[in-house]
Amino acid sequence: MAGVFITLEGIDGCGKTTQIQRLYNALMAAGVDVICLREPGGTKISEAIRAVLLDTNNAEMSDECELLLYEASRAQMVKQVVEPALAAGTVVLCDRFYDSTYAYQAGGRGIDAPRVLMANKLGSCGVDPTRTLILDLDPREGFARATKGGTDRLEAEGLNFQAAVREGYMVVAHDNPHRAQIINASGTPDEVYQRICAALVDLVPQLGA
Ligand code: TMP
Repeated sequence: MAGVFITLEGIDGCGKTTQIQRLYNALMAAGVDVICLREPGGTKISEAIRAVLLDTNNAEMSDECELLLYEASRAQMVKQVVEPALAAGTVVLCDRFYDSTYAYQAGGRGIDAPRVLMANKLGSCGVDPTRTLILDLDPREGFARATKGGTDRLEAEGLNFQAAVREGYMVVAHDNPHRAQIINASGTPDEVYQRICAALVDLVPQLGA
């Protein structure tokens, strides 16, 4: 595929949503053909699945149901948006992708990792990110930030859950050195943004301007 697929990952409250918006604005301003997506989400069907996943009224949801809903949301986004965009040479930015499923559903929930990897293969329809940046932050700091305005169903799992998710991300980085990089997400938003640009400039030269 001709395009570049960049995913941002990290625990809740790591700042990736702010950073991806800034990246998107910079690339738009530079005239780059770019789109910005979020997971779960990015299509009408995927956003509807997102609402089910994050609803605190769905406390009875089984871990398996949760895993499959994330994958279902992903498959729709990949088929409807990501594949066509990459084929057209677009830079695709995505706030979370299948590494979130590894970190949250294997790391956080404790589902058997090989099963999660198999589900990820199906949900991603075989599309892999070109590069993945994992914004790494102390879970206490992330948790405090993420829960300031209330919690969704995943955030309601608490600080220990976020710490387990972070461990999951460390495994992702270790197992995928060809595409995944850890970015220190502490410091000011400007400092973090500079680190992100430095980690992407070989793929998207416009970020070096
Ligand atoms: P967001 O708040 O970063 O948009 O993500 C929604 C929540 O869903 C967040 O707590 C992480 C969680 N999540 C998973 O548990 N598994 C996944 O595969 C994805 C994409 C997100």
